[in-house]
Amino acid sequence: MMVGRGLVNRCAALLALLLSLAVAPQARAEDGYALWLRYTPLEGEALARLEAFSPAIITGTDYLPTDTDEAAVEELERGIESLLGHPLPRRSERKGSILLRCHDNGRDVGDGSFTIRSTGTTIHIGGRDPRSCLYGAFALLRELSQGAHPLSIKLDEKPAMPLRLLNHWDNPEGTVERGYAGRSIFDWWTLPEHFDRRLIDYARANASLGINGTVVNNVGASPLFLTDAYVPKLARLADELRPYGIRIYISARFSAPVEVGGLPTADPLDPRVQAWWKTRADALYAAIPDFGGFLVKANSEGQPGPQDYGRTHAEGANLLARAIGDRGVVIWRAFVYSATDETDRAKQAYNEFVPLDGKFDDNVIVQVKNGPIDFQPREPFHPLFGAMPHTRLILETQITKEYLGFTTHLVFLAPMWKDVLDADTGRGASVAEVVQPAGMAGVANTGSDRTWSGSHFDQANWYAFGRLAWDPGLSSEAIAREWAAQTFSRAPQFLDAVVPMMLRSRQATVDYMTPLGLTHQMATGHHYGPGPWVCDLGRPEWNPCYYHRADAAGIGFDRTETGSNALEQYAPAVAARWRDPRTIDEDYLLWFHHVPWTFHTQSGRPLWDELVHRYDRGIEAVDGMARTWATLEPHVDAERFADVGDFLRVQQREARWWRDASLAYWQSLNGLPLPQGARMPEHSLDYYRALTFPEEPGHPHAPN
Ligand code: GCU
Repeated sequence: MMVGRGLVNRCAALLALLLSLAVAPQARAEDGYALWLRYTPLEGEALARLEAFSPAIITGTDYLPTDTDEAAVEELERGIESLLGHPLPRRSERKGSILLRCHDNGRDVGDGSFTIRSTGTTIHIGGRDPRSCLYGAFALLRELSQGAHPLSIKLDEKPAMPLRLLNHWDNPEGTVERGYAGRSIFDWWTLPEHFDRRLIDYARANASLGINGTVVNNVGASPLFLTDAYVPKLARLADELRPYGIRIYISARFSAPVEVGGLPTADPLDPRVQAWWKTRADALYAAIPDFGGFLVKANSEGQPGPQDYGRTHAEGANLLARAIGDRGVVIWRAFVYSATDETDRAKQAYNEFVPLDGKFDDNVIVQVKNGPIDFQPREPFHPLFGAMPHTRLILETQITKEYLGFTTHLVFLAPMWKDVLDADTGRGASVAEVVQPAGMAGVANTGSDRTWSGSHFDQANWYAFGRLAWDPGLSSEAIAREWAAQTFSRAPQFLDAVVPMMLRSRQATVDYMTPLGLTHQMATGHHYGPGPWVCDLGRPEWNPCYYHRADAAGIGFDRTETGSNALEQYAPAVAARWRDPRTIDEDYLLWFHHVPWTFHTQSGRPLWDELVHRYDRGIEAVDGMARTWATLEPHVDAERFADVGDFLRVQQREARWWRDASLAYWQSLNGLPLPQGARMPEHSLDYYRALTFPEEPGHPHAPN
């Protein structure tokens, strides 16, 4: 009996397994850890072509392969075996070959440019330094993953800009400022002895995009990173990441000479301070010959800086630049946000930095955020771009979505970054051209979460950042498509649905959070959810009221001649486009203009009606995203399908929260009825004002 029942049970289990494999091949559990490097097995013709190619992977035979060459070979083997769905055959049975030759007599002279060509049954990946082969290997796998014919892949790529950097806002004890994906991926406690192998996957992901540097700690920097104890920790990290073409940088605290150097001052003109920085730089370079350099946030949001000693940003930056010499760079942030602000926060950086143009040493780069305020859902491009012709500028973007719903809102950021990269500064170049000699930095959204980024779709923003830093000419659509094909499914029906959804997501967020050029309407401290009613914080520019300036008569920040005149910081041709509220692109209307609630917008609707319309349009777009996603179940594994669906439900609910709370507040000022047919806010204004979120992630440090 017992045996019989056991046999029946085993047969039933086998049958269930076979059935589950037959009906749900996509049900393989996935948790997002593999990112876009999943290399899911090919099918049909694409699989047959790769089988017929089954290559031997060979590095240049006339030189000794480097660790980077080996990383490239390893990735190609891993990727191709996974795409085939089985191990490569024995060497003697391989049909084609991939030949890597990236070398220049042992000198690392290149910038990672590579070519991919085929002759006969051989694919050649070539370039002038080992990174060329690494980047070429990943590019080849990207194409193969999308089903391209191996022998017809032909690429000729060159990075558009030299520095493609992640900025981690990670603190030494493992918290991450404005990070929503768990704890820091860097474990300073156990380094240098222990190195978390997960960081190799982090390095692979970055290398696959051409990201070539990482600033490992928060710009609100701990001086610990400048102590002797941290040199071996940083050196271990640098040694492990080096094969993947990644250099490390640290955020340097300007007052470190006092805090950890025992000096009475950090004055940049004091010779003892100069000697201290030189000693620190020498110690770092002795341990890490390719150390990238320092990133500095100074005299901003309470951070120490040269102005504490009556010196300029240039004097502060040059102090560190001279300590480093030609071994690396100093990246000095233009995100200055000083304690007193008489006119308009949007004007501060330009006012402080333009007079310093030409005064920075050659190895100083000034890092400028995409817009003049702070990573908002939509801002005009920063007026500093094009206004400092004698200074290298690097563009700072925020991959982590501090002001865009953290990880629970699906917002694809490539369209936002394209807006700024493509913007014509009116000073002879686009923003992409202005930053071309330096590069792009992205505030990293990585953390200890299994998905790395806190949500599956936030991985797309890490991906898009890297791809745009490599080639700002890529379209948002192309990036979304290749990311989605590698991350979820290469089925055309899936891609044709998900790509438009991703492309619409950013404008949807603008519409339900801050339509028509409104900005910084987020709640205090954590910046999650609406807080347009906040008017009583210590400093004017901490308050959403400061940005919307709404009252019974109208709304918006007048930045024309009759107001703060921030408009004059732009080139005349650009300012002309934004000067007239009747012709401006209305996504910037209330950024530049204060207008009455009755103002006639381009749709023919009065401003109040248009505002309501846009909030509703945002909600409809999110509802549409949720509907689209619901149709995609056949293409996505169960776990990730459910995760995305859950977060979309949060987003649907919160888009309504944003709209209702904002409208309840605007109505309390203007007393206007809602346009006909518009839905009443679900709750009273008092209800929205009373909401609190003590469990918010992201570790706020100041009420701004
Ligand atoms: C934002 C963010 C801060 C951060 C700052 C910066 O203001 O809220 O947490 O420190 O940007 O870029 O330095």
